[in-house]
Amino acid sequence: MTLPRRTTILGAGACLPDRVVTNDDLAGVMDTNHEWIEKRSGIHERRYVDNHEGSVPLAEKAARQALEQAGIEAGDLDMVICATLSQDVDFPGNSSLLQERLGIPGTMAFDVHNQCSGFLYSLALADSYVRTGGARHVLVVGSEVHSSGIEFADRSRHVTVLFGDGAGAVVVGPSPDGERGIVAMNLCAQGAYAEKLCTLGPGSRWKPRVRSEQVPEDIFIWPQMEGKFVFRHAVTRMTEAVNEVLEQTGHQADDIDMFLPHQANLRINQLVGMGLNIGEDRMANNIERCGNTTAATIPILLTETLAAGRIKTGDLVCLAAFGAGFTWGAALLRW
Ligand code: ACO
Repeated sequence: MTLPRRTTILGAGACLPDRVVTNDDLAGVMDTNHEWIEKRSGIHERRYVDNHEGSVPLAEKAARQALEQAGIEAGDLDMVICATLSQDVDFPGNSSLLQERLGIPGTMAFDVHNQCSGFLYSLALADSYVRTGGARHVLVVGSEVHSSGIEFADRSRHVTVLFGDGAGAVVVGPSPDGERGIVAMNLCAQGAYAEKLCTLGPGSRWKPRVRSEQVPEDIFIWPQMEGKFVFRHAVTRMTEAVNEVLEQTGHQADDIDMFLPHQANLRINQLVGMGLNIGEDRMANNIERCGNTTAATIPILLTETLAAGRIKTGDLVCLAAFGAGFTWGAALLRW
């Protein structure tokens, strides 16, 4: 068997819920305002699902679009990887539930719980399987419903205003010509800072896991973040990760035709862009409309950027992410 030299993205899809939540809407329930949110993060609005819609229905819609664009049937998939921190239920993972919805029993399916870097880590796993012949077609999905896991109260306003719901997906497979596809990836983690951005419970370190005092007044169940610390690390680490993949492949930042960074904060991306000398003409952002959808940001942004015709065959595309863990990474793809 001849193994493929590279793994390429064959199709991409995205799903954003219909419900638009503006900064003014949030100002109606918390002590915040549009000017603060827009100035600090670039966000104008985000999407929320309606009550009790989890992240799997969004994942399914994005996945079906990616499959259609790839021109393959769900039955042609060898593997389903779901990146999420907001799974539908505590266990099993989203991948099992999505596999059932796609009607492909028996297909290998697993979750990657790696927050904002989850999509890149999942893409790396898919790439390894494809290049070593363990799988031919892999579905990689990032899907999140944050609106049910954030606190709508003043003490959490610095976190809550940032997040939105959504899903993005890609189907990957062997590169037809060995040139197009993933050229290099660089993935890192630094657990020392795990509690700089985290939600502590429910979790197995607590007995019982779901604490009896788990009531909305308990900060334990809501995300906590040291915003400035996270911000500084995001700028430094994403820049380092991009430089690392460039160095690995003998490229310069000037060679990047399109940069698709994780969408946590527009200011973070502008600073990373400044460090790499990549301006708005070579960078895509959609945080203004979507907020931070963690594992879903990159596949949503990729889908939109492709639809806008901003990526052409032969372009060098760079993806980069940073998030809780801390975890971060970058990927270079020849389109
Ligand atoms: N509305 C109005 N005022 C607010 C809000 C709000 N939503 N949030 C905080 N403030 C106030 C604070 O109380 C503070 O007031 P004070 O000066 O009177 O004490 C002031 O604004 C400044 O607050 P900071 O938190 O210091 O503001 P900062 O400039 O750091 O911006 C932000 C906050 C936007 C959260 C920024 O730190 C950031 O983007 N951090 C990184 C986020 C990120 O990248 N997360 C990683 C991905 S998420 C994941 O992996 C799950």
